[in-house]
Amino acid sequence: MVSTHIEPTRTVGELVKERPARSRVFESLKVDYCCGGKLPLTEACAKRGLEIESVLQQLAEADARATEGAAAIIDADAMGLTELVDHIEQTHHAYLKSELPRLGMMVRKVAAVHGEHHPWMLKIDGVYSGFAAELQSHMMKEEQILFPCIRNLEQRKQGVSGEPQSVANPIRVMEHEHQQAGDALQRMSELSGGFAPPEGACNTFCAMLDGLAQLERDMHQHVHKENNVLFPKAIELEQQNS
Ligand SMILES: [Fe+2]
Ligand SMILES: [Fe+2]
Repeated sequence: MVSTHIEPTRTVGELVKERPARSRVFESLKVDYCCGGKLPLTEACAKRGLEIESVLQQLAEADARATEGAAAIIDADAMGLTELVDHIEQTHHAYLKSELPRLGMMVRKVAAVHGEHHPWMLKIDGVYSGFAAELQSHMMKEEQILFPCIRNLEQRKQGVSGEPQSVANPIRVMEHEHQQAGDALQRMSELSGGFAPPEGACNTFCAMLDGLAQLERDMHQHVHKENNVLFPKAIELEQQNS
């Protein structure tokens, strides 16, 4: 047994912000740490019907492994705000821009070929097309409106003059859109039984479901970095500057 010093009243978002490797435990237990990141650990566990003691133990074990395992997971909390928005654009946004159209083609193809025998695929096709279109427009708003405001905020802090622009309103809109994207992913996961390939599924079917599962994991990291690290810091910086 690894001893645990984690306070169960802390929010899941804070716990992942402090040690990003803890996200692996939450992923495996299907505890929402991005959109649902503001819930205390106790409540998040109750919502999923999980024993708090067992979750605390798993988190402590993840912490103990963190030295070797966390290297691959970026410590967003240690980054400056400009560095973090650059990182989000270059990794998560770049990934989505290439992956959303590719997966969209696969989803459409699988729905057209196998929708008759697997009617849930037709529903996934419908959910996916709305989700992908919303997400493309969401990223454009972040890149063209919110992220430039955040870079300006940080430059002002360093003494460079810039127009003060409020980040609070766009952040509220982005958080709402994250929730909608999370709901769509959850719906697709439920429809497919956790993105599990059905008996005898062809390669494209398997690759498409695997792609959706990976997309869900990437979105959790992406939204966590924005909701729990970037946005609160940007709001705090704006308040300090005003
Ligand atoms: Fe984003
Ligand atoms: Fe976002």
